[in-house]
Amino acid sequence: MCGIVAYVGPKKASEILLKGIKTLEYRGYDSVGIATLAGNIISVKKDIGKVDEANATLNFLALEGNIGIAHTRWSTHGGVTKENAHPHLDCSGKIAVVHNGIVDNHQQIRAGLGSHRFLSQTDTEVIPHLIEELMSKEGLDFVAAVRKAANTLNGRSAFVAISSETRQMAAARKGTPLIIGLHETSNEEFFIASDVTAFLDYTNKVMYLDDNEMAVVDVKIDGKIAFSSLTSGNELKKRVVDIHWHVGSTEKEGYDHFLIKEVMEQKHTIAAAINQDDTKILAVANDIKSAFGTFFVGCGTAGKTCMVAEYLFSKIARKHINSVVASEFSNYKHYLTPKTLMIAVSQSGETADVLEAIDVAKSKSVRVVSLLNVFGSTMMRASDDFFMVNAGAERAVVSTKATTAQIAVLTLLAYATAGKLQEGKLLLMNAASAVNDMLNPRYEEHISKLAFLLLNKKDIFIIGRGINYPIALEAAIKLQETCYTHAQGFAAGELKHGPLALIDEGTPCIAIVANDETKQDMINNATEVKARGGYIIGIAPENNEVFDYWLKVPDVGDASPIVNIIPVQILAYHIAVMRGYNPDYPRNLAKSVTVK
Ligand code: AGP
Repeated sequence: MCGIVAYVGPKKASEILLKGIKTLEYRGYDSVGIATLAGNIISVKKDIGKVDEANATLNFLALEGNIGIAHTRWSTHGGVTKENAHPHLDCSGKIAVVHNGIVDNHQQIRAGLGSHRFLSQTDTEVIPHLIEELMSKEGLDFVAAVRKAANTLNGRSAFVAISSETRQMAAARKGTPLIIGLHETSNEEFFIASDVTAFLDYTNKVMYLDDNEMAVVDVKIDGKIAFSSLTSGNELKKRVVDIHWHVGSTEKEGYDHFLIKEVMEQKHTIAAAINQDDTKILAVANDIKSAFGTFFVGCGTAGKTCMVAEYLFSKIARKHINSVVASEFSNYKHYLTPKTLMIAVSQSGETADVLEAIDVAKSKSVRVVSLLNVFGSTMMRASDDFFMVNAGAERAVVSTKATTAQIAVLTLLAYATAGKLQEGKLLLMNAASAVNDMLNPRYEEHISKLAFLLLNKKDIFIIGRGINYPIALEAAIKLQETCYTHAQGFAAGELKHGPLALIDEGTPCIAIVANDETKQDMINNATEVKARGGYIIGIAPENNEVFDYWLKVPDVGDASPIVNIIPVQILAYHIAVMRGYNPDYPRNLAKSVTVK
């Protein structure tokens, strides 16, 4: 969480930084700040709120200078206050720092900096003070002090520091991403960011900083950039990579919110997701067939798509695979051998829990293949191979189009593993076109009427079976993060083992009734809920007398998880808007969860 952007070059830094930080707002939106260096003075403007809100009062563009750093924050240490917003300064105001991640040992470091004046409760603030201390007490130059400070920090993090005295910018990476952008031709313009989208408008030439590495941009010597190892200090040679990634539009394009725009983009994204290289799909299918244990690993929504895969592989490929929540994966390490395969699923490719799971897998020589939506992400580079799910930039924190794209690719893999790749493609092409037809204004209006009926409901239950049981769990996540409603998904058969006691007069229960072998049992379970006063919302290709409200979905066979989640995405959006919440920025959350 937290987004970093830094700039050195001939342009006005605040303009580039403001645009870049707006792009990274999905990484955290508690507070925002920019520091620029003009002459030998660092000026800082920061405040709580989103970029536009803070900019309206602070006017970031008033900051002069061609060197600067910017930050958008998701709070970990210290509340959402102006003081806790980044950038943070040392006592002299000559060093400014922005940081993403956690300094696990910040208390010990702070205790050792007794004479320094701290203004915030953040873990980050120890960094500029530690650099200052190392320069004054140990006589280190700025770069050496940054290196030593970075080596002192425990935990996953990355930071960028500027010095007004030396006019240098130094970036250090220890577990969270930092990517360098270079001007196409000149050697005098550099961008540093947590995610390439912050500067892709200016350049697609990048260099990746790896863990335990640092980069220094030295303005005094014509913007030269130098890379070195944090541990040994040895100089490193870095490869320049051209990124040819069509991010898709990152604007709202006339929609009120990114969330509904991205839901509607599913008209095209399912088809884009299945546009994969057959050879690669078949190769990974073979890996799955020959692996001695395959683990599908992800967090949150991606974790639910892994669960869908577990059911799909059982049903279609007759193959046992395991889906594991990434934060629990290390508990399975005793099963891992060099014959194990890991499929890591992540929209952002930056989720700390998944990256840690990959580290665990790698420590046991496990082959790792990722399913990603962000090109150049840390996970892409940490994996042996990867698929892009081609959903295009997903800006809303709430995942929608990336989710269905992941399910589409996982379905394709299951069919390929069963030796039925072409059949899988046909099934998914049909689903893609059904989604295209389904997403029309009348459909949205019908769902918005249901949103109105559910507006004041405090609890919503969702039940499913088989490949749609994980969709019930995913539906609950959608309703929780957008409407702050207590929503809970269950395997429909489990209701009478406890949760049925929660149902009373008018309790809404969404029943996902696919036209498959689970249909009759689902109808029976919905009937049991109705008999206890439950209000049944059926998501199904056909109406049924047990439904009080019917959300029709196309019958797309084993691609049903794709179409069944879409009405809940729309429902969650409309309830949130009717309740006056901003569905793009759920409270307490961020899109890239880069802390454990
Ligand atoms: C999705 O709506 C959530 N915001 C969240 O559960 C998300 O899926 C999870 O944090 C994993 O993110 P990733 O796909 O980028 O790894």
